Amino acid sequence: MKVLVVGGGGREHALAWKIGQSPRVDQVFVAPGNAGTSTEDDSPVMNVAISDHDIPAQLEFAKQNNIRLVVIGPEAPLAAGAADAFSEAGIPAFGPSKLASELEASKVFCKNLLRHADIPTAEFQTFHDCKGAVQYLTDREDVPVVVKADGLAAGKGVIVCNNREEALAAVNRIAGNREFGEAGSQLVVEERLVGQEASILAITDGQTILTMPAAQDHKPAFDGDRGPNTGGMGAYSPTPLVTEQIMRSVEEKVLVPTVHQMKRSRRPFRGVLYAGLMITKQGLKVLEYNVRFGDPECQPLMMRLQSDLVDVLEATVEGRLDEVAPMQWDPRPSICVVMASEGYPGSYDKGHAIRGLDEAAKLPDVKVFHAGTATQDGQVVTNGGRVLGVTALGDTISAAKLQAYTAVKCIRWNGAWCRKDISDKALL
Ligand code: AMP
Ligand code: GLY
Repeated sequence: MKVLVVGGGGREHALAWKIGQSPRVDQVFVAPGNAGTSTEDDSPVMNVAISDHDIPAQLEFAKQNNIRLVVIGPEAPLAAGAADAFSEAGIPAFGPSKLASELEASKVFCKNLLRHADIPTAEFQTFHDCKGAVQYLTDREDVPVVVKADGLAAGKGVIVCNNREEALAAVNRIAGNREFGEAGSQLVVEERLVGQEASILAITDGQTILTMPAAQDHKPAFDGDRGPNTGGMGAYSPTPLVTEQIMRSVEEKVLVPTVHQMKRSRRPFRGVLYAGLMITKQGLKVLEYNVRFGDPECQPLMMRLQSDLVDVLEATVEGRLDEVAPMQWDPRPSICVVMASEGYPGSYDKGHAIRGLDEAAKLPDVKVFHAGTATQDGQVVTNGGRVLGVTALGDTISAAKLQAYTAVKCIRWNGAWCRKDISDKALL
């Protein structure tokens, strides 16, 4: 069968690579993909020059090429109704509907759903404008809060504040200056929590829930969790921070009630339900939901997945996930180190030639997933902020870390950098 993967980042490279390993798959098209998805040797993966935002062009391509499964990677096309568009055309598409994607696309919707379903989350208030939020912050005790733009803002619409002054400035950026555009038309102000973060991703067809092993992302740019927030500078799985007991509790108290509440709200959820959690002294709390695979969490997860991903994705679309065998995982931990362009998450140059990819690929238990890369005159060059996700398996987290950083050392370009402490929180 032929599969279309929508997106062009590290997550989509990992998904296309895994889907391409299925004996049932003849061809995997990636729209638009990156240099990694155009240079997968001995694999049926190839790029098509269609933007991940151009849903009509994706639909036309899928119709003309007899695509039997579409996998939508990023949140923006999901929130714009990509899954609905394919389903209406009779093409099976993996990913939630536009209405169900509100769980990620509107933090106000998400927080209200969590409150209604009695799912543990930070205390919060929502506001339609600057004035209400300013009044609220001025009237209450000066405590640390987090101010969030309601809509999608590429991970940047969340501002963690130490005091009232910072919170008022954050409200002004989001709702006053509209730094994140329409995303700031509503606001959430919530209690700031303290604890360790973990990402728990599950695949659900709206009835059955298959939980994947826990992962941990590293959002701040620099070692020791310092510096500005990024899309994620590295991830590993499994994380010992999530014990067997915490995992059961996430399933019972978070995932099951969320899937039920979505159904009751007439927004049945099919796709990846990604709970961003904080493990606090008072127990676990949901920070946010995403409605897709995490990037970079997807990379170490795909490295460990042994089952045929296509069987699981297809059964989800068809609403028969109860018939699928539990997913099998390599027991070895995996870690992914993101190599980034100089200047990221601020502005950065593109077009630097990347060297050493072949050398890194020769190392055992290593896979270099591309993110912001392109091919120029037969040479792989940088084309984004997060450039590569260097991923390795090892018998222990330390061994996986050593192997990933050994591969990182092979790779060079002008201005390349990465965090040096990915997975260290597992060893605290
Ligand atoms: P979100 O996009 O909502 O996950 O927020 C991005 C990041 O902001 C999270 O990964 C946390 O590091 C931080 N964050 C969000 N909400 C809170 C909160 N209530 N307390 C502390 N940190 C938070
Ligand atoms: N790794 C964070 C995200 O995908 O949103």
